[in-house]
Amino acid sequence: MKDLYIMGIESSCDETSVSIVKNGTTEVATVISSQIDIHKSYGGVVPEIASREHVKNITIVLEECLEKAHMTMEEIDAIAVTYGPGLIGSLLIGLEAAKTLSFLYNKPLIPVHHIAGHIYANSLVKELAFPLLAVVVSGGHTELVVMRKHYDFRKIGGTLDDAIGECYDKVARVIGLEYPGGPKIDKLSSLGKKTYKLPIPLKDDSYNFSFSGLKSAVINLVHNEQQHNREINKEDLAASFQSVAIEEITTKVRKAITEQNIKNVLVAGGVAANNALRNALTSLANELNVNLSIPPLKYCTDNATMIAAAGFYAYKAGRIADLRLNSKSQDELK
Ligand code: KG4
Ligand code: ZN
Repeated sequence: MKDLYIMGIESSCDETSVSIVKNGTTEVATVISSQIDIHKSYGGVVPEIASREHVKNITIVLEECLEKAHMTMEEIDAIAVTYGPGLIGSLLIGLEAAKTLSFLYNKPLIPVHHIAGHIYANSLVKELAFPLLAVVVSGGHTELVVMRKHYDFRKIGGTLDDAIGECYDKVARVIGLEYPGGPKIDKLSSLGKKTYKLPIPLKDDSYNFSFSGLKSAVINLVHNEQQHNREINKEDLAASFQSVAIEEITTKVRKAITEQNIKNVLVAGGVAANNALRNALTSLANELNVNLSIPPLKYCTDNATMIAAAGFYAYKAGRIADLRLNSKSQDELK
């Protein structure tokens, strides 16, 4: 069979990325331009600045990726692009680039849901095995998705309020850590002990999550200690917070594995980089005798390789868009 080269384009948040992937599994070349240093001073991503940076970067990143791959646009078979969800102005830049290339070089245009990309990051390591449970944990999403075959997504639960990554970033901010705070909390936790008592977010019978109560509890605790001129032990607070946040995820993952007769679990999204989550899910998978897949760190956070990988399977499933494709800031994974 002829090799299929998919170009992936990702610009949904603060990373401009272009990749070329062969047959959905082998990365030929990838370039990521991150804006983290620019947004750091604002404590989070500023949408208007993000879109302007994407405009500046997209052509450079695209040319660099082709150069790295020693390929020309003629050799690309299809263009996969994140159409949503994400920051609308940021998404538009990647989408317009993809549409232009699709029109100019007469290549199929494949719309990819950002979360499908995070899920398919796992197929860059090993082929997905079904039925599977995808534990989606990112800055914008916290969801449990069951897949019985390729490109068949059934959401069985999700956050009722904040996403887990968002909660990590807000907790980090209140204890004075720079954006993005998730990795910094993760690091601090390993130096602390669980000494602060925090509420267990959602004790119910669903597959849903809640993080806003936990976030508010940490914020209130910090403000209270500050008002009483008492020093916060950041390491201990990070450890206490992380333990409750990860417990919230693993409790519902355990429930889903046992009730939904799951044999394969994969983790997707930026928070898949979290050490405590990786450890907790590894123990759980061993205990329940299921296969666990966690992407390598470089594929956990936003990148175009995962978009090209998902694009390969979307293409095979016949998901091709025309030039009327629009970006969407919100969209269900389907
Ligand atoms: O998937 P992602 O790159 O962007 C979205 O699609 O949202 O995820 C970014 C999120 C941020 O909230 C960041 O703080 C979090 O992932 N994150 C982590 C870790 N590494 C990244 N959270 C906890 N522990 C980590 N090690
Ligand atoms: Zn993401």
